[in-house]
Amino acid sequence: MSVVEKFRSMEYGPAPEDSKESRAWLDTRQRRFGHFIGGEWRAPVEGKYFETADPSTGEKLADVAQGGAADVDAAVSAARAALAGWQKLSCHERAKFLYALARQVQKHSRRLAVLETLDNGKPIRESRDIDIPLVARHFYHHAGWAQLLDQEFPGYLACGVVGQIIPWNFPLLMLAWKIAPALATGNTVVLKPAEYTPLTALAFAELCNEVALPAGVVNIVTGDGATGEALVKHADVDKIAFTGSTEVGRAIRRTTAQSHKKLSLELGGKSPFIVFEDADLDSAVEGLVDGIWFNQGQVCCAGSRLLVQESVAEKLTKKLQTRMGTLRVGAPLDKAIDIGAIIARVQLERIDGLVKQGIAEGATCWQPEIVLPSRGLFYKPTLLSNVHPTSIVAQQEIFGPVLASMTFRTPREAVELANNTVYGLAASVWSESVNVALQAAAQIKAGVVWVNSTNLFDAACGFGGYRESGFGREGGREGLLEYLEPAWFRNAPVIVAASTTENGAPEVANPSSGIDRTVKLYIGGKQARPDSGYSVPVYGSAGALLGEAPLGNRKDVRNAVEAARKAEGWGKTTAHNRAQVLFYTAENLSQRGEEICKRLAAVVGERQAADEVRLSIERLFSYAAWADKFDGAVHNPPFRNISIAMNEPIGTVGVICPASTPLLGFFSMVLPLISVGNTVVAIPSERYPLIAGDLYQVFETSDLPGGVVNLVTGRSSELLKVLAEHDDLDALWCYGDDAMCAAAKALSAGNLKQVWTNEGRAIDLFSADQGEGRTYLQHAYQVKNIWVPYGE
Ligand code: NAI
Repeated sequence: MSVVEKFRSMEYGPAPEDSKESRAWLDTRQRRFGHFIGGEWRAPVEGKYFETADPSTGEKLADVAQGGAADVDAAVSAARAALAGWQKLSCHERAKFLYALARQVQKHSRRLAVLETLDNGKPIRESRDIDIPLVARHFYHHAGWAQLLDQEFPGYLACGVVGQIIPWNFPLLMLAWKIAPALATGNTVVLKPAEYTPLTALAFAELCNEVALPAGVVNIVTGDGATGEALVKHADVDKIAFTGSTEVGRAIRRTTAQSHKKLSLELGGKSPFIVFEDADLDSAVEGLVDGIWFNQGQVCCAGSRLLVQESVAEKLTKKLQTRMGTLRVGAPLDKAIDIGAIIARVQLERIDGLVKQGIAEGATCWQPEIVLPSRGLFYKPTLLSNVHPTSIVAQQEIFGPVLASMTFRTPREAVELANNTVYGLAASVWSESVNVALQAAAQIKAGVVWVNSTNLFDAACGFGGYRESGFGREGGREGLLEYLEPAWFRNAPVIVAASTTENGAPEVANPSSGIDRTVKLYIGGKQARPDSGYSVPVYGSAGALLGEAPLGNRKDVRNAVEAARKAEGWGKTTAHNRAQVLFYTAENLSQRGEEICKRLAAVVGERQAADEVRLSIERLFSYAAWADKFDGAVHNPPFRNISIAMNEPIGTVGVICPASTPLLGFFSMVLPLISVGNTVVAIPSERYPLIAGDLYQVFETSDLPGGVVNLVTGRSSELLKVLAEHDDLDALWCYGDDAMCAAAKALSAGNLKQVWTNEGRAIDLFSADQGEGRTYLQHAYQVKNIWVPYGE
């Protein structure tokens, strides 16, 4: 080719990164790795190994140990043994280790980047310029948190031994997201990398020894799903942090339900990429390249659903197709490559199968005429248009370089389409109008929304999902809380079973006391008869029959959830309004205080009744105070963006109230939720359900909009099941004994709703330290980070 011809075509020549150093590193380890346990390399107990290979060539890279239950057990023991020593260190000492790890990652950044590209198939440009710098950034940022831990989180304890399971799409970055916050908060770790990409985790293990991290603080056990399962099931693990598929996340939710393991799940997504008609279309096209072709589309927050306003759809599609034609697919070590290899054959087949299914369902498939390498696992960048919103390719995570495109007419329709998914991980919104973009960002149900940008990450900004994208955040202050617990919560005693049965029926009832009250359910702001047509007697502590409470059932709960959903405007009203309503509720409770106290005294005694009324009024004041003060934050990540961390209500939440504190228990659970804008379906104390009558009388006179609080009395364990299995409920709070808490978690796995329980412990709700405040509020909202660019 002549110079002139070259100049005309502007074609890139090959620019391969040298992989000699990384291969030499593998060679000096004889290309065979055991587990990293207690600071040493150990051969697997069962002697089994598996191969890890370069997906772009099929070349075997190394043999890696297949972890069995005995290996996991040894690693957990090492982590347990190291825990006390690690926690004895000062914050500064721990900070120095995290800082040293950050420095070590930087010093070996190129080796790590090349190793990552070899093992994963991602373009070297990405591993070198994105993955590894973000790994270092994560350790730096968390070195800072380690230093500030005691000052910023007084009264908190580390969870203990943490089991962490990560996927193959960002192997070392996901390790950093897991290990850095865990160590910064004083936990020790057993981490299992994905079976396709264990090498950088093993290289990281060496860095731990190089910085003389105390043995056992970080342990790496390699293996497949069975190894992960053994870690999840291990009795001596205090917390599980998982990133991966929603299906496995759901299984882990079920497995851990019976234990007290804390759990955070970062799962799949089907994130919308919305282009409004006033967007800068050229920038949006570049955004799409980063949104769906970054890392071959194997990104949980990939902008895999393009929603484009009808008026610009054709123009955008043309521009996009032109750009797709210039994408370079091929050898990942080539520095001029845009799209590398797919991780494994099974994934490639999965992608292709889904695309074929999409076409069968009516989508039009377009791929540029580029030549793929003759060997290795590659897939062309693919555009599916005319996709129906219900099509499998619009609903299921494809996890490949495939964009499904749909159109919309109005901003409202855009938001409806965007939210038409079980997921809620991320979204990208393109418009030159700040009003249009921020209005959409506020309405989209997702943990991260990028305005005129996409796929930006930073250690200071929480990342995580809504709905079936999981729960918990990684990064920022909220990410640290996933690895901490308030000391009072951890140390609370286990609930001792009451001497009477749950509904308070004494062994010998006193039949002569008569029935003097009729209480109903309270749904959508109206008193309602129970669907079942049944009531249950309620007895006082002395055996007197106090009245009868309706026996709510599945249908009543369904009606209540529907009413609560309809009342979600409560979350959009101003915090000032919510505060006013709560202050006014306090005033009305105070006016009825004496009569409520008298009735309650028959169940809990005079002293407790008086305390419950007094403290309930106080608690109303507290949450009226919090309502307009529990603000979010504005982060300054190291890009030309700000990230607005909004505290958003979760939505509609089911609440099983404590049995033994009918009034105070109800307010302690319900107030934090409604103060930040959630709506609630509450099951009042089973011990004294008649409290519902007093509660709705107070609410009816307090300007609380109908549907914000709904009350369904009945048998807690039956109603718990209905709430937990209800797919239109976003979260569940359950206060009960161990069995109830376990049931709440296990039964909620269906739609992966967030569950918060007292873990079967007796919380002292009479103390302000334990009964109210930040811990409650932190479970009542979720953080949405809205990234907004600035500058030209
Ligand atoms: P996966 O969820 O099976 O694997 C993720 C990690 O979990 C790996 O380390 C694996 O060994 C481990 N694991 C598997 N089964 C387990 C179990 N029962 N208990 C504990 N740990 C277990 O994901 P996979 O099979 O690699 O990919 C399948 C699909 O999942 C992808 O096509 C994609 O749609 C989705 N995925 C989503 C990710 C995300 O970040 N959202 C990451 C990886 C996969």
